Amino acid sequence: MNLSGKIAVVTGVSKGIGLAVANALLQKQCVVYGLGRNGAEINHPDFHFIKTDVRHAEEVKKAISQIASEQPRIDILINNAGLGYFGFLEDISDEQWHEMFETNVDGMFYCCKAVLPHMKKNQFGHIINIASTAALEGMPQVSAYCATKWAVKGLSESLFREVRDYRIKVSCVYPGSTKTDFFRNSPGIQPHDYMLMPDDIALMLVQALEMPDNFHTVNLEIRPLQPKGPKTT
Ligand SMILES: NC(=O)c1ccc[n+]([C@@H]2O[C@H](COP(=O)([O-])OP(=O)(O)OC[C@H]3O[C@@H](n4cnc5c(N)ncnc54)[C@H](OP(=O)(O)O)[C@@H]3O)[C@@H](O)[C@H]2O)c1
Repeated sequence: MNLSGKIAVVTGVSKGIGLAVANALLQKQCVVYGLGRNGAEINHPDFHFIKTDVRHAEEVKKAISQIASEQPRIDILINNAGLGYFGFLEDISDEQWHEMFETNVDGMFYCCKAVLPHMKKNQFGHIINIASTAALEGMPQVSAYCATKWAVKGLSESLFREVRDYRIKVSCVYPGSTKTDFFRNSPGIQPHDYMLMPDDIALMLVQALEMPDNFHTVNLEIRPLQPKGPKTT
């Protein structure tokens, strides 16, 4: 798809991967609507922020209706908003469990559900869901977060088969550790320069979006090459 003039919705734009993706899409001349609890430090005439907590279906519906009333189409949805609490299962509180599921899974469901009728009407669209390598394998002390991201994988792979004949692509991205604020709830993991960088993930998403219409990247697993730094011995 030629990204110039395309209408994109990105969730969770205040920082990290979502902020990088919003900036990358603006550089490609997309009109970008950022949905989140906190705005982004982006000063661009084609960037619009709509305060939205993706855990609340009504807020998501209202935000997407506003976009649909202002724009002729919705071409792209990037479901990025998410968070993780790491630790032994019995130490994860019920509130943390629900916050992760409501944000990582319910939020993605609400956004897909609100956007799909517009994409179907236009017989065109690309939804990209940000999962994690935690969706591909079990990891000790990551069980609750893994559970949410396995749900993202299951929804994405099913939805891709459900909407492909409407000319709508659904891609799922599985990034390894990325240098963002994500690890604030994970004592013991410090972000470092051998992790993936948010801008690199944004570049890869842009490349996936730019592929020809009949070329569909279903799953994208990306990892840092030297997650622990160069081998010295
Ligand atoms: N960093 C990693 O190593 C890594 C690896 C694989 C996958 N991921 C996934 O990548 C995505 C982005 O994470 P990140 O690393 O960029 O983390 P981050 O720096 O903590 O950013 C997360 C973003 O999600 C937003 N968000 C959280 N809860 C929200 C809610 N209820 N409603 C709307 N927005 C909400 C945050 O905005 P506010 O808090 O300002 O509302 C923020 O903009 C997440 O889905 C994460 O699971 C991250």
